[in-house]
Amino acid sequence: MTAVGFMAPSSKASGLAGVVAGETAISAVDREGLDLTYRGYSIRDLASQATFEEVVYLLLYEKLPTEEELRFFCQDLVRQRGLPPEVCQILERLPGSANPMDILRTGCSALGAFEPERDPERDQWKVAKRLVACFPSILLYWHRFHRDGQRIETATGEPRTAAHFLSLLRGEREISPLEVRALDVSLILYAEHEFNASTFTCRTIASTLSDFYSAVTGGIGALRGPLHGGANEAAMELILRFKTPDEAEEGICQMLQRKELVMGFGHRVYKKGDPRSRVLKEWAQKLAELRADQRLFPICERIEKVMFREKQLYPNVDFYGALTYYFLGIPIPMFTPLFVIARVAGWSAHIMEQRAHNRLIRPMGEYVGPSPRPYVPMHARS
Ligand code: CMC
Repeated sequence: MTAVGFMAPSSKASGLAGVVAGETAISAVDREGLDLTYRGYSIRDLASQATFEEVVYLLLYEKLPTEEELRFFCQDLVRQRGLPPEVCQILERLPGSANPMDILRTGCSALGAFEPERDPERDQWKVAKRLVACFPSILLYWHRFHRDGQRIETATGEPRTAAHFLSLLRGEREISPLEVRALDVSLILYAEHEFNASTFTCRTIASTLSDFYSAVTGGIGALRGPLHGGANEAAMELILRFKTPDEAEEGICQMLQRKELVMGFGHRVYKKGDPRSRVLKEWAQKLAELRADQRLFPICERIEKVMFREKQLYPNVDFYGALTYYFLGIPIPMFTPLFVIARVAGWSAHIMEQRAHNRLIRPMGEYVGPSPRPYVPMHARS
């Protein structure tokens, strides 16, 4: 997908901006739009001190785990990383050229057919953990089968999602702790974000009393779009188009003149900068040093400078998040799937919260079409 051709909206369609669509105790953006908290804990503290698994536990169980609780939780995830043979067969039959988001969407839906949620009250925790545990397995089983012709064992025994993902992707057991931590931090930052489009989709589906898998499958569909999760892939493709910071400056100015969107910039909620972006910029810089990169990081910094100078827009989570993933050697089409792997934690918490206080989500539309008029029989139509 390329960033060219994403045009800024011509009219001020509301997009429900500023509308409070419901209550949540899961996460909040502070009034200034400067910080994001998960169940009251700042993402700055979580990104510097917690692991992704701790954050998943916090989102699902409303408290930070003790050491023992975390150990049991991780053991549970480890046990659930394997895939049913029927799902593997489906993944083998999907085209190797498919968009990896289609693979996760189909994989989630297929798993729901083989391991259905029969009793929401009893099964929803199990399904949430199953999806957190096995989304990397679904994606990388498909990837390695089609790329390498290998039927890999997805039950790696690895408790950390980041290490599990990188070892399945690379086919290596030993991954550098710095790389594991970089991916881990990105997963923490992507894990939850109150009533964004995909979460609201999950909640809407859950509000009809549909099953957990249907809600998550819908969330994946919403996240795929370039205005939402798909922006990290589009941002990376844009960054790679430029060879030098000067070239980037010229290219971005031309895009803005043509009123094109620069992916990875702007945010509906953060108007003074996305706090997640600041953390990921630091990680992208660390990895740039590790890779001895002297090209891409300076290009990104120049794009950031130009976007602020020309539009007063800041990078969002997807801009330096994309660069971080690129430096980790992750193929660009897997950037948005990684967002799913993280965000399924937040979606799950929201589905459960919606169910706990459910009322069908069914807003109204303001009709702007023709006034009532008589039906015209076929023979009388021009
Ligand atoms: N590039 C160029 N112009 C932009 C951009 C951008 N990335 N973002 C906003 N603008 C302009 C927009 O055209 C408008 O200009 P004007 O006032 O002249 O009409 C002005 O800035 C205000 O923007 P808006 O359209 O009112 O902002 P919004 O709240 O409707 O949209 C957004 C938020 C994220 C959809 C938008 O900023 C955008 O399209 N960004 C690019 C896509 C992107 O990076 N998405 C990832 C979002 S964060 C992670 C996630 O949720 O997945």
